[in-house]
This record gives sequence, structure tokens and C-alpha cells, in this order.
Amino acid sequence: MAAGFFGPIKPIGVSQQEAGHSLRATLSWPHLVALGVGAIVGTGIYTLTGVGAERAGPAVILAFAIAGAVCACAALAYAELATLIPTSGSAYTYTYSVIGEALAWVVGWSLILEYSLACSTVAVGWSGYLVGWIQSAGIYLPPALLSGPHAGGIVNLPAVLVALAVAGMLMAGTRESATLNIILVVIKLVALSIFVAFAAPAFNADNLQPFMPYGFTSHVEGGATKGVMAAAAIVFFAFYGFDAVATSAEETKNPKRDLTIGIIGSMAICTLIYMLVAISAVGAMHYTTLGNSPEPLALVLRTLGHPVASHLVALAALIALPSVILVMMYGQSRVFFVMSRDGLLPRSLSRVSERTGTPVFVTGVTGIFVAGVAGFFRLDEIAELANAGTLIAFIAVGVCLMVLRKRAPDLPRVFRCPAPYLVGSLAVLGCLYLLFSLPNMTLVRFLGWNILGILVYLAYGRARSLARRNEAVVGI
Ligand code: ALA
Repeated sequence: MAAGFFGPIKPIGVSQQEAGHSLRATLSWPHLVALGVGAIVGTGIYTLTGVGAERAGPAVILAFAIAGAVCACAALAYAELATLIPTSGSAYTYTYSVIGEALAWVVGWSLILEYSLACSTVAVGWSGYLVGWIQSAGIYLPPALLSGPHAGGIVNLPAVLVALAVAGMLMAGTRESATLNIILVVIKLVALSIFVAFAAPAFNADNLQPFMPYGFTSHVEGGATKGVMAAAAIVFFAFYGFDAVATSAEETKNPKRDLTIGIIGSMAICTLIYMLVAISAVGAMHYTTLGNSPEPLALVLRTLGHPVASHLVALAALIALPSVILVMMYGQSRVFFVMSRDGLLPRSLSRVSERTGTPVFVTGVTGIFVAGVAGFFRLDEIAELANAGTLIAFIAVGVCLMVLRKRAPDLPRVFRCPAPYLVGSLAVLGCLYLLFSLPNMTLVRFLGWNILGILVYLAYGRARSLARRNEAVVGI
């Protein structure tokens, strides 16, 4: 029996099958690597490379390296915890099992921002590509249906439709969705390879001067947030997603082996690709030109005189970006699922369909939420809030790694994070630095979201928590 300062602590190692609600184990490590790469490579590299260059100049390369290094530390922490606590819910579940319910709720509430708002961001970005594509074919749709009220429209209908379509696919079954995801991942990787193959030969060292025109720290300059850290706080979006793999623990055939390979493998592949893409992009074109483009990779290729390659890269983004929505929405529905199974959200959310073995109802609810945000809100603001939520989750994972090493050093760990206190501290401090490099308005909104979350917890979840009601809480 244990309850910490932050409420009940969930027991580690309790099979969720015993809890009476289970997901079907259909995935193995190739699916998970694909899930990871599918979630990681998306709007971040395809469009935020330009925003990063605008904020940091050529030092956007450095911004990618910083964000990647912080994420690598978080990934190592995730891998150890995911194999030790192989149940759905990722950072939420780890926090519940290590620190306590109240903080787990805050992390779960932040994960809603990460997964759902990342889906909405990518849906809006995808809609932009689609509209450009349709218009280049000479077809013009009513503008009121192509953007939200912030841009003078009524609703961003393509973004709503793509979000709902992906939710429908997930409701049809994990296995099918994951297999389709592999095809989309291949398309994205081929497109980025084409980009590097055409852009790298045009590398000109003059384009890297001055390397750091806005300095290192995040600050406001001319009404905009600038600096390498400001860029790192935005391009951070390009890296996360690997943690969505950890949320699939209950659906993997051999969680310990498959999750380790899935998380570390997808992270390593993506970091390598991003560095190549970023160096090729800023080496081929001056950052001031790159910085203003909503489609920087396509712009580089067009400017270099490769229209067909440019066209293909844009087409690949259009076809494959939904795979990011797919994986992030998958992660979100699993977090809702576990929170409701714990009694913190309505129990009906954790119902599993007998036919598909997936939580159909909660996936539908997630899809509607994502579509609603995508239909009515601004892309950059959604992305920044998604980053804030993700950073909180990563900080929690770094803390959990270190606390558990200290509290239970002898637990059998299939994957042991090297130098756990150093890696854990770097993850926590790096994420805090990135968090406070975000624009002030984002931090205010994030605070508001968390205050709302705490109110929901006090008004609903706390009283209905299964752990509190059973009073059968075993800590370690
Ligand atoms: N990393 C994902 C992307 O860049 C969220 O779209």
C-alpha cells in the first residue's frame, strides 16, 4: 500500500489483462519503428525548417542539433521506462507509477496538448498543401471553407476532413492502420532523400554567413521571437512523436525488445535525416529567402531549377503527412483510454470494440476534438502549445527515470539508460530551457490549460479515481 505526496501510486507490473480491459497484441518492432518515423517526420521538417531559419538564420542547423540532443536524452529515458512499465499511457502512466496520481493527471492533461494539437497542426499544414495543389490545377473552392475565423474564413474544412478520415482508419483497427503507415513512411523518406540529393550539390558556404545573426538566447526583436533557442523551441516539434511508440506497449507482441528498438531506432534515423536536410537547405539558399516560405523544401528545389523534384517533394508531403496524424491520434486515444480506465475520465471512454480490438469510442471522441481545433485555430499557435505539452511530458519522464533508479535500483531492466542521472538531468534541464524559450503568450495559454485541467481533476477525476476507491494501491 502506498500513497505519495501526490496521491495514490499505481503498482508497476500489474498486467492490464487482469484489470479486465485489454488491447489486442498485434504489433512487433518493424511496426513500431515505422510508427515512430511516421510520427516524427512531418510538418516539423517539411515546413518549420523555414520558421527556424527565420528565427535563427543558418544556425537553424544548431537549433536542430540542440532539439535533437534533448529529445535523444528523453528517448533514452522513455526506452527504459517503456520496457519497465509496458502498459499504455506513456509519460502519464510512468508518472502515476513513480510519483503519484495528481502529477500524473497534469502530465496526461499535457499529453492531450501534445498529441491532439500536433494532429491539428499537421491537419492544418496538410490543408495548406492541398489548397495550393488544387489551385495550381485551376480549381478554386469557396475561401470561407478553407480557413478558420482568424484568417477571415468560417472553417478549415480540408483540415477537419483529414482529421476525421484518419480517426476512421484507426477505428477500423490498429494492424491495418500500422501497415498503411509503413507505406506512407517510405514515401516521406524517399521524398526527403530526393531533396538532399538535389540540394546538397548546390551547397555554398557563403550562405552560412553570418551563421548566428540573431544570437543564441530567445528574445523579442522587431516584434518577433528570435535566436537559436527560439528556433530550437519551434523545431523541437520536428523531433517528437517517438514517444507515441511507448503508448502502444500493450499492443506489442514482445514489448521489451520491440519498444527498445522502436523508440531508439526511429529517433536515430530521424535525427540523421534532419541534419542532412537542414544543412542541405541552408547551404543551398540564403536563410532570408528560406525563412519566409510556407513550403521551404519545395522552394529550394524550384529555385535550384528542379521543378519535377520540387513537385514530387510537395506531393509526398500531401500524401504522407496524414501518417503523422495517424500515429499521434493513436497515441492520444490510448492516453484517454488509460486515464478513463483509471477512473480519472469517464469509464465509457475505455470501452474496447470486440470486433476490432481497438477503443473505438475514445478514438472517435479524439478525432472530433482534433478536427474541431484544426477547423478553427491558427497553425503556429497550435504548434507552440503542442510543444509546451510535450516538454512537460518529457520533463516528467526524465524525473521518473531518476526517481525510479534511486528508489528501485534492482528492478529487472531490459533496457538500461546509460548514465541515467546525467541523461535524466539533461532531459529535464534541456526541456525546461526549451519551454522557457517559447513565446510568452504560449506560456500563458499553457498555464491556463493546466489550471483548467486541475479544476477538472478536482471536480471529477479525484473523487472517481479507481486507485483511491479501491484503496488497494501497492507502491514500490
Ligand atoms: N514530429 C512531428 C512533425 O514534425 C510532430 O510533424
